[in-house]
Amino acid sequence: MIRHFIDIADYSSDQLRQMIQDALVMKARPASVSAKLSGMNIALLFEKPSTRTRISFEVGVNQLGATPLVLDNKGMQLGRGETVADTAKVMSRYVDAIMIRAENHDTVLELSHHASIPVINGLTNQSHPCQVMADVMTVAEKKAPDLNFAHLHIVWLGDGNNVAHSWIEAAAAFGFTLTLATPDALRPDASIVAKAKAAGGVIHLSNDPALAITDADVVVTDTWISMGASMGGAEHIDAAAHKNMLEPFRVTTQLMELAAPDAIFMHCLPVYRGNEADAEVVDGAQSVIWDEAENRLHAQKAIMCFCLDKNNAG
Ligand code: CP
Ligand code: NVA
Repeated sequence: MIRHFIDIADYSSDQLRQMIQDALVMKARPASVSAKLSGMNIALLFEKPSTRTRISFEVGVNQLGATPLVLDNKGMQLGRGETVADTAKVMSRYVDAIMIRAENHDTVLELSHHASIPVINGLTNQSHPCQVMADVMTVAEKKAPDLNFAHLHIVWLGDGNNVAHSWIEAAAAFGFTLTLATPDALRPDASIVAKAKAAGGVIHLSNDPALAITDADVVVTDTWISMGASMGGAEHIDAAAHKNMLEPFRVTTQLMELAAPDAIFMHCLPVYRGNEADAEVVDGAQSVIWDEAENRLHAQKAIMCFCLDKNNAG
């Protein structure tokens, strides 16, 4: 069976923990995997801008001994109406895997249905699983070296967006408690929350940022305006009204003081200081954003090996 990596909820807790474990080993001993995907070619296809995903995948593919092909949909016939299905079938004849950042989640699903090679989700309007695997790896390094997350309370403040959805799935898989404090109108997708709860996730929804953040071990936020919205796509929003609703959810230094004294602050980046978080928090002593960004590289290498290493099949 082809191992795609489309959402965290698609894999078992044991498989996901193994990926985090592998990522930690790859970070500690990068040379141990330098020929792991030797001779392979991996396409990295972007329908939206990217700094971290593009660079960390390109470097990660190189570090595993494979060759990356960085593509954008507008430079392909895909951008002129060739179907996703036909693109999937053709690409499957040339390359060994496809990482795609897509406008619509359905594009990734359709690509995976028609590809005979693994498809990895590098962000859609619905989820960002590679980001949250790197985030869980970062939480493991800082707070749970034994990969036991059960004692941790992670609090998300802001928009109930794609990254929040992957955190919700991660709560069910890794066993931490997750509270999402959002304006009522910007709650995460109810079906994703319900599915994660049914899978055993301890997930609370709140509209009270101060109450939610109190005693948190990990505080997470993200941009108030996601790419799908700012690029005028299907998710188009009234930016001023949206920001207005989110004002009380800014991670300020005052709110951060309510979290546990040793709480860490996380953000997938890019960050907009003064919107979703005070600059003092983003650049402060509790912030782990640079380690978090670095861990994209290691977590994604583990994900690619999970999808492509013949020895891992089954
Ligand atoms: N966090 C993240 O995915 O960043 P990019 O949009 O730069 O890839
Ligand atoms: N929620 C953000 C994440 C960027 C990495 C977006 O979709 O733009």
